Amino acid sequence: MRVMNGHPVTPVLSVQRVSKHFTLHLRGGLQLPVLQDVSLDVHAGECVALVGPSGQGKSTLMKCLYGSYGVDSGRILVQGGHAAHEVLDMAQASAHEVLDLRRRELAYVSQFLRAVPRVPALDVVAERLLQADASLQAGDADDAAWQQALDSARERVAQLFTRLNLPRALWELPPATFSGGEQQRVNIARGFVQPARLLLLDEPTASLDAANRQVVVQLITEAKARGAAMVGIFHDEEVRDAVATRCIDLAPSPIESPA
Ligand SMILES: Nc1ncnc2c1ncn2[C@@H]1O[C@H](COP(=O)(O)OP(=O)(O)OP(=O)(O)O)[C@@H](O)[C@H]1O
Ligand SMILES: [Mg+2]
Repeated sequence: MRVMNGHPVTPVLSVQRVSKHFTLHLRGGLQLPVLQDVSLDVHAGECVALVGPSGQGKSTLMKCLYGSYGVDSGRILVQGGHAAHEVLDMAQASAHEVLDLRRRELAYVSQFLRAVPRVPALDVVAERLLQADASLQAGDADDAAWQQALDSARERVAQLFTRLNLPRALWELPPATFSGGEQQRVNIARGFVQPARLLLLDEPTASLDAANRQVVVQLITEAKARGAAMVGIFHDEEVRDAVATRCIDLAPSPIESPA
């Protein structure tokens, strides 16, 4: 346990003995174990990189942390309930609790964007800010308040799109026809625009050129500085070396052979 000024510090994320398997129904119910007894803590200001060979379960763990996949056993404790130090166990949480935490404190940048058809790129990202705005979500905001919030959200998104070198001509278009790298930048903007407490990054730089990879490195560095906790998968070693405070290999530790 981490101690600061003599007091224990609760990690933002604490994964405790998580195991998970997939059942392959089309293969006669074959059981495929993927995660075995995985434990890790991530504190504010840390970026932990998951490493290990392809197929090891890195993306699967990310989806468990985001609450998209259930687990067989173990706990996934995330700080960020409504009360100051309230902790939610993603392995036990209801769908409502998971969605509420995602809205306020949990962001996930996957490699591919799942954009709603016909919504312009600016609004795909601005929506993330509006969802997290407690005063709007309370339900008593009038049209003028919504319009003002939308204008200021779009302004913030425009600044981020400019940093990410997303051509201005694309901002008002739906991202469905964007190139892989353009879609990924919209996705990154959606992940970083709202200062979430826990950020999950699955190959955030996979389709980016060197200049934009550098912007993502800066965004991660800034998020660390404001105290966000991050878990990332970075196949690009240069990016990983630049941002990771620690690497964790998901492979089960080898059984020690007797001397
Ligand atoms: N929804 C699913 N149903 C069945 N099997 C799955 C499912 N998702 C992943 N798997 C299997 O679980 C294993 C781990 O997959 P996962 O995508 O987590 O690996 P990874 O470590 O992220 O690999 P990579 O580095 O290639 O992205 C693989 O063998 C994969 O085939
Ligand atoms: Mg993966």
